[in-house]
Amino acid sequence: MMRDRLAPLIPRNRLVLHPGFWADIRHIVRHNPVRLRCRDRAVAHLPCCPLDTGHASPDITSTQPERAMPPKRPHVMDFLQTRRSSPAKTLSLPVPGRGQLEPILAAGLRVPDHGKLEPWHMLVLERQALIRLAGLVDRLGPMRGLTRERVEKTRRQFADAHLAIAVVSAPLPSPKVPASEQQLSAGAVCLSLLNAALASGWGANWLTGWMATDREFLNTGLQLAPSETIAGFIHIGTAPNPTPERPRPDIGAKTTWVNS
Ligand SMILES: Cc1cc2nc3c(=O)[nH]c(=O)nc-3n(C[C@H](O)[C@H](O)[C@H](O)COP(=O)(O)O)c2cc1C
Repeated sequence: MMRDRLAPLIPRNRLVLHPGFWADIRHIVRHNPVRLRCRDRAVAHLPCCPLDTGHASPDITSTQPERAMPPKRPHVMDFLQTRRSSPAKTLSLPVPGRGQLEPILAAGLRVPDHGKLEPWHMLVLERQALIRLAGLVDRLGPMRGLTRERVEKTRRQFADAHLAIAVVSAPLPSPKVPASEQQLSAGAVCLSLLNAALASGWGANWLTGWMATDREFLNTGLQLAPSETIAGFIHIGTAPNPTPERPRPDIGAKTTWVNS
């Protein structure tokens, strides 16, 4: 009966009662929580299931070696649960040099990418480029009808910066992967870059502004193709210590557990 209940949840070739059986179940539950809950709400309440702490695993005859779990990385979880950006306007020198930046860029590109289209690329904007872009903001802002304050704020986004990575979203024609998914992948590059910079001890901040979608700014300032836009400017530098925390979402208010 237990086999019948688990059968829809487990790939056929794994439905063998070997000594790693319960480790497999724990692994499947951990890595497929939504599918498990949708397809069999009772799975976590099976009698003697080690998912319910306090229950012993059944005595099962050994036929195969125990399957190893992926290693835990508690320091990574700790980072993800405490990470925070530093406002770009608080970032100062020094900024990472090329050798320090390269591993951050490599981590930035290690993201989910449906269809392996790689629909993004990065521009490393160094000081002279940022000063040039500040001048372009100063010229284009008033033409867009922006207030003096808004133009000045966005001009300083570049004028005061010493290093920023422009993540370019470059969706490709695809019968399978909609442009929106490709843009999400570019967003993933932004977060991955941001986190890699933070995890490397730098301050970093993901900004956009009106320039990220302004065609003339993108064409003239960054030589982007007409189909390309900016997913984010990831500013990187030295942050004041400590960076103040900001209010965080209420997990309960933002999460709905769906079980039927
Ligand atoms: C796509 C995107 C664009 C953003 N653009 C701006 C911006 O132009 N100006 C700004 O002040 N904050 C902007 N933010 C918010 C900053 O990144 C903000 O500092 C961030 O939410 C801090 O969150 P964290 O501490 O969790 O990293 C943007 C955020 C995202 C995701």
